[in-house]
Amino acid sequence: MARLYEHPYPSPELAATQRFIPLVHTRLPPDEMATRATRFRDTMERRRSVRMFSDEPVPRALIEHAVMTASTAPSGAHRQPWRFVVTSDPEVKRQIRVAAEEEERVNYLDNRMNDEWQEALAPLGTDHHKEFLEIAPWIVVLFEERYGLDTAGNRRKNYYVKESCGIAAGLFVAAIHEMGLCTLTHTPSPMRFLSEVLGRPDNERPFVMFPIGFPLEDTLVPDIERKPIEDVLIEV
Ligand SMILES: Cc1cc2nc3c(=O)[nH]c(=O)nc-3n(C[C@H](O)[C@H](O)[C@H](O)COP(=O)(O)O)c2cc1C
Repeated sequence: MARLYEHPYPSPELAATQRFIPLVHTRLPPDEMATRATRFRDTMERRRSVRMFSDEPVPRALIEHAVMTASTAPSGAHRQPWRFVVTSDPEVKRQIRVAAEEEERVNYLDNRMNDEWQEALAPLGTDHHKEFLEIAPWIVVLFEERYGLDTAGNRRKNYYVKESCGIAAGLFVAAIHEMGLCTLTHTPSPMRFLSEVLGRPDNERPFVMFPIGFPLEDTLVPDIERKPIEDVLIEV
C-alpha cells in the first residue's frame, strides 16, 4: 500500500523531528459497517430542537461527557479554539434569561429582524419568551476563542475559528442527543450579554448557547421535513 505514495506522510525527515504514533483504527466487516451507518442515521433522524424542557436535574457528569466529545472535533492547526461555559446556577440562568428576552424582544417586537427573516421563522412560531432558559437544568454556552494568549499575555493566532467551533457544536449536539437528552441551538443575538453574565475575557466571543435537559412530557415540535438526498448530495 505504501507504494501508492510517492510522498508518504510523515516523510522520514519529519518523522525524525516530530513524534508520530500508530493510528488506532478498527476494521469492521462490511455488514457491520452498514448496520452502524443506518443505526446512527436513525438515531440522528430523531434529533429535534426542543423549546419546552422539564426542570428534572441532569447529572453534571453527562454534560462533561458531551463537552469532551465535542472537544474531539478537528480544528484549524489543532488550536481547539472553543470554551464550553456551563452553568446550572439558578441566578446565572435567570440573568441569562432576562438578557436574552430583552435582546429577542427588540429582534421580534421592535423589528430588528427584517420581514424576510421574520417570515422564515413564522412556521416555527418562535418569539421573545425564553422561559426554558431558567427551567432547563443546564445552560452551556460555546465561546469561540478568537485568539489565544500565552502566559505572558502575548496573542497567539487561531485558525478557522468559526469552522472549528461549528464542527465542535455539531458533535456536542450529537453527543447530547445520543445520551438521551435534548437541547436547542440558541442564538439570541446580539449575544455580547453572555460575555458579561459569564465573565468571559475579550478574546472569547459567544458562538452559540445550548439549554439542556429532558423534554417536558408531551412536548410539541414543528412538523418540518428534511431535504431529500438529491437536494443535499451531489456526485460529480
Ligand atoms: C446556528 C443556529 C441558530 C439557531 N438559533 C435558534 C434560536 O435562536 N432560537 C430557536 O428557537 N431556534 C434556533 N435554532 C434552531 C432551528 O430553528 C432548528 O434547528 C431548525 O428549525 C430545524 O429543527 P430541528 O433542529 O428540530 O431539526 C438555531 C439553529 C442553528 C443551527
